[in-house]
Amino acid sequence: MSKKKNKVDLRDAGLRIGTILGSFFFKSEHLHYGYWDDLLEVNVDNLSLAQQKYSAFLLEHVPPEVKSILDVGCGVGENARLLLDKGFKVDCVSPSAYLTEKTREKVLDQCEIFECYFEQVETGKRYDLILFSESFQYINMEKAFEQCMRLLNPGGYILICDFFKVRPQSAQMRRAISGGHRIEAFFQTIGRFPLEQLKDIDITRYTAPNYTLVDQIRKTVILPLVQTVKDAMQSNYRCTSRLCSLIGRIFFRKKLEKLSYKHLSGNRNAENFALYKTYRLFLYHKQVND
Ligand SMILES: C[S@@+](CC[C@H](N)C(=O)[O-])C[C@H]1O[C@@H](n2cnc3c(N)ncnc32)[C@H](O)[C@@H]1O
Repeated sequence: MSKKKNKVDLRDAGLRIGTILGSFFFKSEHLHYGYWDDLLEVNVDNLSLAQQKYSAFLLEHVPPEVKSILDVGCGVGENARLLLDKGFKVDCVSPSAYLTEKTREKVLDQCEIFECYFEQVETGKRYDLILFSESFQYINMEKAFEQCMRLLNPGGYILICDFFKVRPQSAQMRRAISGGHRIEAFFQTIGRFPLEQLKDIDITRYTAPNYTLVDQIRKTVILPLVQTVKDAMQSNYRCTSRLCSLIGRIFFRKKLEKLSYKHLSGNRNAENFALYKTYRLFLYHKQVND
């Protein structure tokens, strides 16, 4: 087995950490952004409500004739649970063992969970709608659409709610605000499939405030904590502090610079998110003859 195969998938670990912190501090297990409408003040207490609003927004765009849904990258199963409660037949795709276990606790035996990447799903089942709620950015687009064409019923739908890149970012800015396929590449790729666009709704304005929250946390928690630890080390453990700083500069300089830029520079904010990304809800229809 190659060395690489033994490594922990860092994106998966990030989602796992997000779930643990989210459920403890924010009383929410949703792994998507919140939808901050104009009535909702941006603060940590409202995050869970904003995430519920996002799910409600998503569900509003499921066409009325849809009965069966494949929820790709189901997180901890929050959307799947909501869809089941609304009477849909739902199956899930979950490549993460940890998130699959959490999903199973929520959906019990009401869903089949494909415990693999979407690209690897093999089944004779067909669905009326395939849902990507903030999972599309993780999947190769060409392969995703090929799979959708196989797994959708004739006349079925694809619902994607996710963010995309709208302009090139410097390496530093990519550290601050990462993720998303290029929007032009998305349109080019989907244009090669017999899919008709029914909806394209830009919700960047309502999702960007998630980064206002990130910036509030940086200012009120991360910066004061870092400063407190620095002060304590310098006054009480001056030699150890100098030694640690030297070791850090020699062995981990690049990693520390990246982390410091990402979490301390202040560039993870709503303005930059709205400048470099576009958050969209897309609904596509598989043409009946195909
Ligand atoms: C940001 S979370 C979104 C979770 C959930 N859909 C939600 O709206 O809260 C991303 C999800 O995509 C999943 N994922 C990542 N790569 C995937 C792939 N290639 N195929 C299927 N799911 C994938 C992750 O395991 C995780 O469940």
